[in-house]
Amino acid sequence: MSQHQELIQLQAQAENELADARDEKQLEAWRIKWLGRKGLVPAAVKQIGSLPKEERAAYGQAVNQLKQAVQAAFEARQQQLKEAAMAAELRSEGFDPTLPGRRPQIGRLHPSSATLREIAHIFAHMGFEVYTARDVETDEYNFQLLNFPKGHPAREMQDTFHTTTPDVLLRTHTSPGQIRVMRERYPEPIRVILPGKCYRYEQVTARSEMMFHQVEGLVVGKNITFADLKGTLQAFVDQLFGEGRQLRFRASHFPFTEPSAEVDVDCILCGGKGCRVCKYTGWLEILGCGMVHPNVLRNGGYDPEEWSGYAFGMGPERIAMLLHGVDDIRYFFSNDVRFLEQF
Ligand code: DAH
Repeated sequence: MSQHQELIQLQAQAENELADARDEKQLEAWRIKWLGRKGLVPAAVKQIGSLPKEERAAYGQAVNQLKQAVQAAFEARQQQLKEAAMAAELRSEGFDPTLPGRRPQIGRLHPSSATLREIAHIFAHMGFEVYTARDVETDEYNFQLLNFPKGHPAREMQDTFHTTTPDVLLRTHTSPGQIRVMRERYPEPIRVILPGKCYRYEQVTARSEMMFHQVEGLVVGKNITFADLKGTLQAFVDQLFGEGRQLRFRASHFPFTEPSAEVDVDCILCGGKGCRVCKYTGWLEILGCGMVHPNVLRNGGYDPEEWSGYAFGMGPERIAMLLHGVDDIRYFFSNDVRFLEQF
């Protein structure tokens, strides 16, 4: 038999015996016999020295291949036996490794943030830019420039957190951002939404929190009309609540818009038939809006003879309540994970 054939046979024998090793002890016996210091594989390697010079290179290569193959087979078998032993041990303890694992707790967006982002996303698709205005405002921006002079009765609807600095307050709505954008952008046309937190010094109830979010919208340009406002809001509502919702514009009053309207959508729960959520009216109020008042345009630097615009404001918590059937706004900021985890 040639030396080469001998090596092939040696490898076959090693692998056969390896397959017969069924536990750690048998595997160790196999290892000593084949790979140990005085084992059969090292012995075959040592033969190199006793060969005539011209045969050494070829034999050396072949025996090295054998050694690597046997070593790899050993490691694979060792791993196999280890896994089988582990599975057997787990099974004997009554543990089923095929059961699904425990999911780790992962964070998620707060429902207010998620709704805010959804609203911003819809308007971004219509070409609106997101503008971030400040939470701490002055009386001038929060009220006066929006056409609420001092002592105006409409101020009473927005009870205010004042600071110790006179005329510095926490904004009661996102509308003061309208003046900030206009003063910054004049004489460019404007198409922005202004999302953010608002604060009111009010009794906290199921319907009103002292801190909440609003998303304000402002469009200023040449020949902007109420029809543009209606079309934009219809497109928005179709995307937010699904195609085919009815909108109703109810005449209303805000000092900074003229004319002003409140917008209702047909109840997303009962489709207008009347239910507890819509208080049996068939309609849900979702926002306030109107054409920007000439005084407000002027305060922002835009000549109302030349420019016109519309504005709207909505509360994402209110919209989230409608979308998800939440009946108390206080859940949003009471940090109860049992509530937050549901979104
Ligand atoms: N700022 C109003 C509020 O907080 C909401 C609002 C109504 C904003 C009409 C608007 C608007 O821009 O046109 O009650």
